[in-house]
Amino acid sequence: MSLSVPSATADSQAAFGQQGEAAFSQFLAWLRSRWGLDWSSYRPDYLQRRIGICMSAAGIRNYAEYVRRLERDPQALDRLRNDITVNVTEFLRDAPTFAAFRSVVIPQVVATKQKAGTSLVRTWSAGCASGEEPYSIALCFLEALGRDLGGLWVCVHATDIDEDSLQRARAGVYPSQSLKNVPPALAANYFRERPDGARVVGETLRGMLRFQRLDLLNDEPLKHVDIIFCRYVFIYFSRELQERAIRSFHQSLNNGGFLVLGRTETMPPALLDGEFVTVDSEERIYQKSTA
Ligand SMILES: C[S@@+](CC[C@H](N)C(=O)[O-])C[C@H]1O[C@@H](n2cnc3c(N)ncnc32)[C@H](O)[C@@H]1O
Repeated sequence: MSLSVPSATADSQAAFGQQGEAAFSQFLAWLRSRWGLDWSSYRPDYLQRRIGICMSAAGIRNYAEYVRRLERDPQALDRLRNDITVNVTEFLRDAPTFAAFRSVVIPQVVATKQKAGTSLVRTWSAGCASGEEPYSIALCFLEALGRDLGGLWVCVHATDIDEDSLQRARAGVYPSQSLKNVPPALAANYFRERPDGARVVGETLRGMLRFQRLDLLNDEPLKHVDIIFCRYVFIYFSRELQERAIRSFHQSLNNGGFLVLGRTETMPPALLDGEFVTVDSEERIYQKSTA
């Protein structure tokens, strides 16, 4: 291949042009056939930008050279894979979303369980990255209901496409700085401090989590779920795929279950006409219609 790539700073539209688009498609096809990395459903502008940044960072100017690098350097491939599925996250990310979760969602779910006389609460963090989101969900339950969770069995399923992120999530070891949003009492109760200052998730918190690799676009979704968090994940998906994913979440949820999309994702208007009702338009929290 003797195909060029735009610099990370260039306007991707202008820099790619007709031949650039063809080269880019060819490169994606190579990734798919050689490494099984199928990113065809991700937004092309997003992929072009991220791949361009990876190549620039490695001082590589064209796809042919990049292909040679990826063939001989497995770490370069790991870096590219991680960079495409960026996994930036933090504990209690977007405090107002978690405040609404604590004050509106948890009490309703608890009331529903009490009324039905059942105790299992299934929550799903879809695209959980290194675990900060699912542990935050569990912390909110512990804060609201106490260590015994009011007799409920709260299970937080944490899934991601990226196995490296899941391994970090399972390990549950975080620099103390990353707990900056966690109230000190919760941090003291549910984490322990290592001699080097890192915080390790304690047994009570860890026991609430279940980890699993799951590709939201290709794998069988979870079922019978009461609450789904899916935040900062759709940035990679085309509009059509976003809608498909949300329809699939609808299937996953119990009647009256909640979907927390947070501030960056949008609910397709068509799905507010029967499938979901809005609970909090600012924090983008929706409830599966019971009708
Ligand atoms: C920016 S992180 C978001 C983490 C967390 N939800 C939060 O809001 O802090 C996005 C995560 O989505 C995951 N992801 C991207 N595409 C995915 C897919 N098709 N299926 C499952 N997870 C995916 C990435 O691996 C990454 O860990």
